[in-house]
Amino acid sequence: MNKFFEINNLEYRYPKAQNQTIQNISFFVEEGTIFGILGPSGAGKSTTQKILTKLITDYQGEIKFMGKDLRTYKKDFYEGIGVGFEMPVHFNKLTAMENLKYFASLYQNKADYEGLLRTVGLYESKDMEVGQFSKGMKVRLNFVRAMLNNPKVLFLDEPTNGLDPSNAKIIKNLILDFQKQGGTVLISTHLMGDVEQLCDQVVFMTNGKLSPMASPRDLKLQYGKKEVKAEYLNDGKLTSKIYPMDNLGKNPEFLKDLNEEKLETIHSGETSLEDIFIIITGGQADAKND
Ligand SMILES: Nc1ncnc2c1ncn2[C@@H]1O[C@H](COP(=O)(O)OP(=O)(O)O)[C@@H](O)[C@H]1O
Ligand SMILES: [Mg+2]
Repeated sequence: MNKFFEINNLEYRYPKAQNQTIQNISFFVEEGTIFGILGPSGAGKSTTQKILTKLITDYQGEIKFMGKDLRTYKKDFYEGIGVGFEMPVHFNKLTAMENLKYFASLYQNKADYEGLLRTVGLYESKDMEVGQFSKGMKVRLNFVRAMLNNPKVLFLDEPTNGLDPSNAKIIKNLILDFQKQGGTVLISTHLMGDVEQLCDQVVFMTNGKLSPMASPRDLKLQYGKKEVKAEYLNDGKLTSKIYPMDNLGKNPEFLKDLNEEKLETIHSGETSLEDIFIIITGGQADAKND
């Protein structure tokens, strides 16, 4: 196992904040995985991303990136990482292409950004002023910006927030492609649909504290009810029954019902990640601000 990032006892407080914003958190990110930091607004997800991308440096604790203390990295750190900020800021008076040319000029490594524009479906709009872009187009352009320098790691803060399902799917597929090519991704989100489709490992953050690391599947097994619910339709009347999952194939009642009744739907009683989110984060819709 290759720990790409290793975070030990990280703490941080914004200068004017009363309480610790990040409260003694530890986790690690394996190379080639998609790691999700989940949690309600105000939990500290963006702050964590800012610390990991060296935008905030006056933290306590230890962060290792590829085995070396993050503090020892200089500007060249940015050559290897791509960052998609939560609130993308583009030059609105410039075209998409002009924006990309400008941002690409900040790096030595340069990706094929025309190709990237094609992949996100923006090539036709490359000469349009970004001020005229829809929200979805701006978010897709933001993703291209994160990929401009062929990074090894992507930091994505709420990458699909506010996107319609088809735009969100484009971005999610790009993230999965990036992983297939060996990339490592840190993503923060409060959208559990993204997590199901993308994340290998997740942590939940609430008020600057972290839950243990787990895979979405493990969480569902841990929190899931081991039950099966069947609905039967007889003479136009819908009834439902719940059976324990264990030994279901030998459950005489279940087998009898299956034989005698008209089965309409059948589901295992998995707890959704939405439910798990609410259980773990204590049902906070919004921790503090925003
Ligand atoms: N620049 C800042 N100065 C002071 N407090 C901040 C600043 N940015 C965020 N905060 C506060 O830190 C906490 C964590 O914020 P943030 O990391 O943005 O949460 P999230 O990304 O999970 O929504 C919130 O209470 C927020 O109000
Ligand atoms: Mg945030």
